[in-house]
Amino acid sequence: MQAGVATEGQSGNTALSPPPDAAKTAQRIGVPREVFPGEKRVATVPEVVEKLIKLGFAVSVESGAGDAANCSDDAYRAAGAQIVDNAAQLWADSDIVFKVGVPTSAEIDLMREGCILIGFIWPAQNPELMQQLTAKKATVLAIDALPRMLSRAQKMDALTSQAGVAGYRAVIEAANAFGRFFNGQITAAGKVPPAKVFIAGAGVAGLAAIGTAAGLGAIVRANDTRAEVADQVVSLGGEFVKVDYEEEGGGGGGYAKVMSEGFQQAQREMYAKQAREVDIIITTALIPGRPAPKLITAEMVKSMKPGSVIVDMAAERGGNCELTEPGQAVVRHGVTIVGFTDLASRLAKQSSTLYATNLFRLSEELCKTKDGQVNVNMEDDAIRGLTVTKDGSITWPAPAPKQAAAPAVAKPVAAPAAKKGGHGHGGGDSEPMAGSKLASVFGVAAALFWLIGASAPAAFLGHFTVFVLACFVGYMVVWNVKPALHTPLMSVTNAISSIIAIGALVQISPIAGAAGRPNDWISWVAAAGIVLTAINMFGGFAVTQRMLAMFRK
Ligand code: NAI
Repeated sequence: MQAGVATEGQSGNTALSPPPDAAKTAQRIGVPREVFPGEKRVATVPEVVEKLIKLGFAVSVESGAGDAANCSDDAYRAAGAQIVDNAAQLWADSDIVFKVGVPTSAEIDLMREGCILIGFIWPAQNPELMQQLTAKKATVLAIDALPRMLSRAQKMDALTSQAGVAGYRAVIEAANAFGRFFNGQITAAGKVPPAKVFIAGAGVAGLAAIGTAAGLGAIVRANDTRAEVADQVVSLGGEFVKVDYEEEGGGGGGYAKVMSEGFQQAQREMYAKQAREVDIIITTALIPGRPAPKLITAEMVKSMKPGSVIVDMAAERGGNCELTEPGQAVVRHGVTIVGFTDLASRLAKQSSTLYATNLFRLSEELCKTKDGQVNVNMEDDAIRGLTVTKDGSITWPAPAPKQAAAPAVAKPVAAPAAKKGGHGHGGGDSEPMAGSKLASVFGVAAALFWLIGASAPAAFLGHFTVFVLACFVGYMVVWNVKPALHTPLMSVTNAISSIIAIGALVQISPIAGAAGRPNDWISWVAAAGIVLTAINMFGGFAVTQRMLAMFRK
């Protein structure tokens, strides 16, 4: 269907569920140029246009929409999109519009009735916008309203993809404003200590920042009110700094809750200490629907070393630092405070590609028939969560998803019993076995061993003893390894398992021919086995070395 062809069956309900006898024409996806000043992202990229066309859709892109993200009109054209000269024509021709930024009222005026709009909407913050959209009988899928706790929604999670890019960029901005190396160096001219970076809030953006700063060689510390993120911080090369106060910070669904005054006081003390010690602070702390918590006071800024840097990612929500000026980089008390609110847009090609892929995955869910027809299925938990208006009626907020994983039940705040071993969480949370229960387990095990010992043949007993000892040693070794090291442990175990090479070696030797050369197929199979297991063995050790290198400073 070409621009303007979508006449009947395009408005309101009929676009979503055409009468059975109507000829189905491909619906047209329109991608306008973003109008928010400084926004460089675009809602789809040429690589994704091809995939949308394969799903059966027609695609129009406003001329110049991708320029700032290095996507030229020609590239879109080559991918099969139609380039439309102006926004008015694009909005008028499109059955579905993909956008990044919240639409302006001028854009909504251009929208045709019954249009399907997909992009960031933030319905709680924009009630007037919601009214305008319903007046246009629009069906709006707010990508920010995605139920993130559904694991199958992850591929559509644009908040995560954009925050990941922004977290990376926050470190790059910090490095740009900081006058030293991140990594420590010993040179003929002297010793340079590594930079110390403190990350407040280890959600999506915080974790991306930890990984990036650690990758650049800095010493990275992080804090979050949700203790469950401690292992993730460590696995990315950071150190989790605890607040000296027992309180569980999880508010359900992976988000934080507002902490008690006692906790906040203890947290302020810890942050004040970090501010004196570190060179760079990156703040990402956020509780959805609330203003950003003020974690870095003016006093803390004053106590930092001259030349230090703060990147306040929460600037748009008022900032985590008292001295942040949203959208600007300012110097206060010798400290550069970066409050940019467009960090993802500063890596426009990368963030646009990830965003376009999120929208493509959503399109797949909306068009399972691959015939270019959108079906907004309100029975689907993910789609229901995203849909904030349907055919002109407000459907936001959505009820809690049926399939959502039950939020972790907060444990009472009473002083936790000391945990065994070095585990941060997880296994260490299970209740200790009662004495009588433990005794009966041992009793049953002893009886079983006696039975086996009394009745099994001697040859079996030898093997069985080795097996039991191996289980015991394996258990003791694995149980004491930190969760972050489980992956390198697996690769080294895999390498060690190549001991089966001995079997192949044994097979080769006795059946060698008179001249000492292998002379039948068993030898050749054994030789192939040795080659394959050698790859497993040397490859396994090489992979382990590389993984362990990520943990070394
Ligand atoms: P998120 O919800 O995944 O992470 C926020 C983290 O802050 C959570 O782990 C939460 O437990 C933690 N937190 C909440 N209160 C805290 C407190 N008092 N102390 C310590 N930790 C606390 O959010 P996400 O996606 O990582 O975004 C982080 C921030 O970055 C948000 O403010 C978001 O608006 C902002 N952002 C800014 C961008 C920019 O261009 N400046 C771009 C993308 C995101």
